[in-house]
Formats: sequence, structure tokens, C-alpha cells
Amino acid sequence: MGTGQPILEIVGLHAGIDGNEILKGIDLEIGAGEIHAIMGRNGSGKTTTANVIMGHPDFEVEKGDVLLDGKSLLELEAWERARAACCRKNELDWLLEPFVSL
Ligand SMILES: Nc1ncnc2c1ncn2[C@@H]1O[C@H](COP(=O)(O)OP(=O)(O)O)[C@@H](O)[C@H]1O
Ligand SMILES: [Mg+2]
Repeated sequence: MGTGQPILEIVGLHAGIDGNEILKGIDLEIGAGEIHAIMGRNGSGKTTTANVIMGHPDFEVEKGDVLLDGKSLLELEAWERARAACCRKNELDWLLEPFVSL
């Protein structure tokens, strides 16, 4: 159960690629200790949401914000977001597990 201010907050997020809007107003609050699963049909924008949270350079945020501990992530580089404790793990990382020793 979460208490107080959310750790991760997405507020009215509109984002896309090459002028095509993909995310059309996403809102999400994740509090301390909560585990959330985002489910949706293929092409509904789950991966795009993760890409935008992590600052993938191909995606443009048109409106809204992504806040970690109340501070916007949007002006941060991907490595700065990672340092702030945001991490995106790909579905097929297990394929590489025998080779990864970081
Ligand atoms: N790099 C990209 N270039 C162009 N369109 C993209 C790109 N990534 C995703 N899209 C489009 O954004 C929409 C959402 O895709 P995606 O976020 O991958 O959905 P999901 O992960 O929910 O299956 C789809 O219409 C997809 O074609
Ligand atoms: Mg996906």
C-alpha cells in the first residue's frame, strides 16, 4: 500500500514520434511499495510509455509530465534517469543473461 506522495507520477502525458501522437493523455500514480502492471492490446502504447519515461531520444513529449519523487524527469538524459533509479528491462533480456555480468 502506498502512502503520501506517489514515487512515480505521469500527468496528462501526450507523446509521439515523427509528429504522430501515440500517447493521448496518460495518467498514472505509483506509490511506495506498489507494484503495477500495465496491460493492453498490441500497439496500445505500453512500450512507448516505458520509452518516454526512460527518455528514448526518438520520442517527443508534446504535453504533460513524468515526475519521480515530485521532480520532472523530462529534462534529464536517459543516464540521469537511470541514476535517479528508473530502469527499463526488455522482455527478452533473459536471452542475454548468460553473457551479462554487470
Ligand atoms: N519507433 C516507432 N516508430 C513509429 N511508430 C512507433 C514506434 N514505436 C511505436 N510506434 C507506434 O506506436 C503505437 C504504440 O506502439 P507500442 O508502444 O509498441 O505498443 P505496445 O507496446 O502496447 O504493443 C503503435 O501504433 C506503433 O506502431
Ligand atoms: Mg510493447
